[in-house]
Amino acid sequence: PALRGVTGVALLTAAVLTPLGPAAAPASARAAARPGATSARDPFFPRQGNGGYDVSSYDLVLRYRTSPKRLSGSATIRATATQHLSRFSLDLRRTMRVSAVTVDGAAARVSRPTRLVQKLLVTPRTQLAAGHRFTVVVRYGGEVAALRDANGSLDGTVSTSDGIVVVAEPQGAPTWFPVNDTPRDKARYRVSITAPTRLVAVSNGAYRGRTRHGGVTTWRWYQAQRVSSYLATLAVGKFTVRTGRTKSGIPYFNAADPSQRGSVSMLAKTPRVVEYFATKFGRYPFGATGGIVENASFLGYALETASRPVYDRTPSIQTLSHELAHQWFGDTVTLKRWRDIWVNEGFAQFASWLWDEHRGATSAHAHLRTLLSVPASSRGTWNPPPADPGSPRTLFAGSVYDRGAGALQALRERVGSKVFFRILRGWVDTHRYGNARVAQFVDYAVRVSHRNVRPMLHEWLYHRGKPRAGRR
Ligand code: ARG
Ligand code: ZN
Repeated sequence: PALRGVTGVALLTAAVLTPLGPAAAPASARAAARPGATSARDPFFPRQGNGGYDVSSYDLVLRYRTSPKRLSGSATIRATATQHLSRFSLDLRRTMRVSAVTVDGAAARVSRPTRLVQKLLVTPRTQLAAGHRFTVVVRYGGEVAALRDANGSLDGTVSTSDGIVVVAEPQGAPTWFPVNDTPRDKARYRVSITAPTRLVAVSNGAYRGRTRHGGVTTWRWYQAQRVSSYLATLAVGKFTVRTGRTKSGIPYFNAADPSQRGSVSMLAKTPRVVEYFATKFGRYPFGATGGIVENASFLGYALETASRPVYDRTPSIQTLSHELAHQWFGDTVTLKRWRDIWVNEGFAQFASWLWDEHRGATSAHAHLRTLLSVPASSRGTWNPPPADPGSPRTLFAGSVYDRGAGALQALRERVGSKVFFRILRGWVDTHRYGNARVAQFVDYAVRVSHRNVRPMLHEWLYHRGKPRAGRR
């Protein structure tokens, strides 16, 4: 058996390297092919994600219909096998019915076992060798539906008074397209959405034009830099649209619900906030910017959807700047595990303090003093500790945001602004378009500052209860 094993490995290597492409894998590869994992193994959301392949792009061609509200069309997924695959899975909620799936143009076998709540198991006609780039086309459609998260909030494709909006953090992406729904599999998004002509249909990235065919209009969008699936969005409804370019030339597309007072003028601040953050965090990471203001305050939150955040109502300036800061912290450098949520929220919240400071309102130092004036007995302010929210139910706890921002301002006051911003810019630069963990930031801050900031960061990030702030 040992000898056979060695021979097998040698043949597998040959299969990967064959210049003719490994689509028709030799017998040896076939023998070693296994189904991809049906989980990306995140302890908070074990249903999410799949193994055995890596997606490079989603091309969604969708039609939106009303009464009842429905989405239907096709998803073309380009991916690379990371193991010899006999089968692989995608995440798609059951409200979406699948009519056909092809892999590299050939019809594939599909099954959806009830025990795997959101999995679409796809068995291609021929096995896929490791390293093989393949294309999956899924035709699907269904009535729109949202999920309810453990913390009680809606997540996914949400119905609004005049249309729909997708807010998919942490697990709503499979409500609108078949996806490898793990924040670690970043991809490009091309979205084409056909809707009644009286409505506007917005997605991520650059606006690529629209075409009218009588009563319906097709809108085209392209998000060229890779982002996580929870950051992909789609909003269809009545919107007042404003477009233009920021000072440095980034095109923006703002869509504001006309029934939301002040929505157009609040979104108009977007270019200025983005330009300011670029001076602090490094160049803006995407090819377009903007925002979408909904009339959906029942949601209770905004989301930093890539290049163009969704606001459930006219946002405050704190919320606007928070979501725009996420374009660097969250959308460019993304948490690796959901437990690492501070890598997203702590930084975005700190940045909203920074915008306050910049516009001459409350300084970040004053924000920190206010936080530290809250007594230790106020449990909700201090617990859970930002770097360990404990469970999916407390993923977006207030302490992750405000105590999380306090940790960064405390670091800034310890090492000085100059070194501090060198750390922030270097952090974004190092992990650009990737994923990172809290512990990596602590190591990085120690390395760049040449100071032992580890004990104070640990106190701020990991310990239960109010940090002993005076500690040096
Ligand atoms: N990331 C969002 C923010 O900007 C919050 C998302 C909350 N998600 C949820 N399902 N409640 O803070
Ligand atoms: Zn946030």
